[in-house]
Amino acid sequence: SHHLNLWEEFLRDRIDTATAVLEIGSFEGRSALFFLQFLPKSRITCVDSFQGSEEHVERGSEYESDMAEVERRFDQNLMPFADRVEKRKGCSVVVLPALAAEQRLYDVIYVDGDHSAVSTYTDARLGWDLLDKDGLM
Ligand SMILES: C[S@@+](CC[C@H](N)C(=O)[O-])C[C@H]1O[C@@H](n2cnc3c(N)ncnc32)[C@H](O)[C@@H]1O
Repeated sequence: SHHLNLWEEFLRDRIDTATAVLEIGSFEGRSALFFLQFLPKSRITCVDSFQGSEEHVERGSEYESDMAEVERRFDQNLMPFADRVEKRKGCSVVVLPALAAEQRLYDVIYVDGDHSAVSTYTDARLGWDLLDKDGLM
């Protein structure tokens, strides 16, 4: 939520366009809801393993054991936007190449999966092939 001002600044000129958004890491869907509400003509592909990450485990496994519940809340939160949401459940290193094989392209890509350096770099690199001309990652 503390990035909202910045996001609005960068995304404002896309409000009236049909924007294809790819989100890597969705959790309960808070950021996906932001894109869908701020960009009313957008569609979003949400990639999440719904297995959590190291950071969730480090917090004391509260989230780790609850990921089925997290996924249920994601489904429930995104239900009002179901016609604009594509959920791709799986690990990003599997799903992103699959999207590339389908020749999918996105205008906006948000990398927020596993925050370790190697995973963030890998997601950004795989995402780069899915970013359209004039896209924003
Ligand atoms: C920080 S949370 C996402 C938060 C969300 N973007 C938001 O702002 O509301 C990270 C999510 O990435 C998912 N994740 C972690 N590693 C992943 C991977 N390798 N592939 C797909 N999803 C992953 C986790 O299951 C978790 O739900």
